[in-house]
Amino acid sequence: MSDLVVVSNRGPATLRIGESGELVVRHAAGGLAPSLLHALERLEGRDRLWIASTMSEGDREAARRGLPAELVGGCALRLVDVPGEVRDAAYRVIANGSLWFLTHGLFDRTRRPAFDRHWHRAWEGYREFNRRFASEIAERANEGGVVMVNDYHLFLVGAFLAEQRPDLKTVHFTHTPFPGPDELSVLPQAVLTELLGGLAAHGAAGFHTPRWADGYLAGAARVLEGAPLAFAAPLGIDVQALAAVAESPECRAAEERLLDRLAGRQLIFRADRIELSKNLLRGFLAFEELLETEPRWRGRVVFVARAYPSRQDLPEYLAYRNEVERLVERINERFGSGENLPIELEIDDDFPASLAALRRYDVLLVNPVRDGMNLVAKEGPAVNRSDGVVALSREAGAFGELAGPALALDPFDVSGTAAVLARALEMPSDERARRAKELHDRAPGLPPARWLEQVLAEARPASPLPPRAQG
Ligand code: G6P
Repeated sequence: MSDLVVVSNRGPATLRIGESGELVVRHAAGGLAPSLLHALERLEGRDRLWIASTMSEGDREAARRGLPAELVGGCALRLVDVPGEVRDAAYRVIANGSLWFLTHGLFDRTRRPAFDRHWHRAWEGYREFNRRFASEIAERANEGGVVMVNDYHLFLVGAFLAEQRPDLKTVHFTHTPFPGPDELSVLPQAVLTELLGGLAAHGAAGFHTPRWADGYLAGAARVLEGAPLAFAAPLGIDVQALAAVAESPECRAAEERLLDRLAGRQLIFRADRIELSKNLLRGFLAFEELLETEPRWRGRVVFVARAYPSRQDLPEYLAYRNEVERLVERINERFGSGENLPIELEIDDDFPASLAALRRYDVLLVNPVRDGMNLVAKEGPAVNRSDGVVALSREAGAFGELAGPALALDPFDVSGTAAVLARALEMPSDERARRAKELHDRAPGLPPARWLEQVLAEARPASPLPPRAQG
């Protein structure tokens, strides 16, 4: 039984059964999970448990054997293995195929969404997925314990948990953006009411910025009686942990290789998942426009993009990846010669190589169409050694903290983005240094350990809100 239960769909580690039947734990390398885990490790005096979904075959085998795995000192991992069709409905159709699009404003609305009978059946799967997580928590949390639920895969957990374990103190945290009532209204009213009611049934709901929290409150006001509790807690980064990787031999070697390849050219860099919300296409189109309209930059600047695949089981993501690759080929054919290509697109997940480039960029391009926070925008200035400029989308959650020293860009404005890139490339060195220092000072923000403390302090017993009477 645990005093503190953290819950997320994807856990911070995947499991493998070793040769002698032992459990081998493989921790995630980058992103939120390692820093959250580190923060959890430092919370003393409580029994901690992380509950996540099985994602790999090893996970499923471990779950079948009922094995809890030790993640870090005093914190265990327990995997929930829901039947394949329930997982598919909840994760692929609802979470990735609908809620991700909804929260990031990605629906085109001409064709999508279309909530047909298959979708409504998938919604039942999503409900079932949430119910199973709630049962797992109910079984494992100590009397009066604290439960932190993460993200859009698990919006309904609070509602099921409130029925079974009203003694628990709960808090939900959404790491994506959260839209306001106009965008939310694409959901059928009954579904929207269930979704917002589920979220409101947690003791409190947290978001990375006040804008996302306000969207949720405004949406809830339309369909629920009474106002739920919401708060904003912007996640920062663990600079020390990052510096340790940045100083590693692996990272140093990657940096040497990068410097060789640059051969004196300026470096524009970006690091993202290949993800519809990250706006890779318009970023490359802006670079193309720069090379086209200001020929003096040709051969003097290289755009390195580290992009790692994600959600390749969704047709939209595969198509997007193909489109990105084709666009890069076209621009390289147009402006490249021999080995000297204007864009280097590296499709893999190599955290040390990304950090090496973060240390060296002259310009960091972060142009999402919408993003809950975006930690790359903070990691860059924390480790950069070149007085690099950050070109940052007004739609990234991090914009609220970094606006001013970062150059603002409008993510849909290709010409505007090209102009921001040009301005960054030719910025005088004293202005670069001043902005870089200010960004470096602001970058840590609320480090993960303090962020976690703040979020957990918001946990309280749930008091679910009834739906508003609707016509
Ligand atoms: C991004 C988002 C998280 C989300 C995760 C899921 O990192 O910022 O909020 O939980 O994607 O990714 P997955 O690969 O598990 O679908």
